[in-house]
Amino acid sequence: MTITTKFTETFGVEHPIVQGGMQWVGRAELVAAVANAGALGFITALTQPTPADLANEIARCRELTDKPFGVNLTILPTINPPPYDEYRRVIVEAGIKIVETAGSNPAPHLPMFHENGIKVLHKCTSVRHAVKAQTLGVDGISIDGFECAGHPGEDDIPGLVLIPAAAEKIEIPMIASGGFADARGLVAALALGADGINMGSRFMCTVESSIHQKVKEAIVAGSELDTELIFRPLRNTARVASNRVSREVVEILEAGGQFDEVRDLVAGSRGVKVFENGDLDAGIWSVGTAMGLINDIPTVGDLVARIVDDAEQLIQGRLGDMIGSNDEEKVPA
Ligand SMILES: Cc1cc2nc3c(=O)[nH]c(=O)nc-3n(C[C@H](O)[C@H](O)[C@H](O)COP(=O)(O)O)c2cc1C
Repeated sequence: MTITTKFTETFGVEHPIVQGGMQWVGRAELVAAVANAGALGFITALTQPTPADLANEIARCRELTDKPFGVNLTILPTINPPPYDEYRRVIVEAGIKIVETAGSNPAPHLPMFHENGIKVLHKCTSVRHAVKAQTLGVDGISIDGFECAGHPGEDDIPGLVLIPAAAEKIEIPMIASGGFADARGLVAALALGADGINMGSRFMCTVESSIHQKVKEAIVAGSELDTELIFRPLRNTARVASNRVSREVVEILEAGGQFDEVRDLVAGSRGVKVFENGDLDAGIWSVGTAMGLINDIPTVGDLVARIVDDAEQLIQGRLGDMIGSNDEEKVPA
């Protein structure tokens, strides 16, 4: 049995499972493994220092899989923005057919993607932004709850309410994101009205993920309590692993400190060292509360197969068994 949803049909993937963009993590090996497992993976455009590097990474991924995969374009509100137009051109010229946008309004990018037959899955963290993106004409929504790694927004609405609230307003395919790590999450997301799940933290902790083994072991050892919300007072909240650096950042900002005082602590050049060297206190690194549900480091293929198989058993077994027939309960006349 396979699980067919509006998402699998519209986006042409076998399973309703997505690996969202992940800075420093969403590279060719992981994305190809996700594609080969029948799920949808996204290469993270901005992990590549230049648009030309992105073109190479896409080519590298194509050598590892002949299944479809996408590219994540995270639109950051920075003073010195990366050359988005050039990254976008590379995505189009490489023949990519699915893009995950996130971070900000996707409107400036939609015409060129759509003119070139590219489907856009827009990731956002509130019902109002999801509705806005649907109105703009994106092809799917990925809605990220408060549980998620990275930027959960400022509303603090967990998936249990966010997903069904969004489902009431969203007609295009919708993916539930944040806190998903196993079949229970997938089945719950489908029950809440989503057409599939997006996972970051869970895919980060797999054999094919290129981060240091020590980070994967820390995720396995960590619990749902081991994340911090940094940048809250700046209204640019990010959920990251609790470590010396993130706790210091929280302390400085809560005491009224400004961004300049934490700039060095949160530098991407420090964060990337965590993933490269396995030094868990080198900088800040993203991970979600799903850490409490991650207990092993499987291959991507085993992980996806396990989630789909367990989900089918859960639906047909445990849940199916709960449905009693009224007839059986009737007292004979
Ligand atoms: C290490 C890491 C880096 C991430 N970087 C990005 C990013 O650059 N752009 C983006 O849209 N989402 C990013 N995310 C968020 C994921 O795509 C996804 O939305 C999130 O991880 C879902 O929550 P989960 O970790 O509970 O599964 C990142 C997540 C992680 C774990």
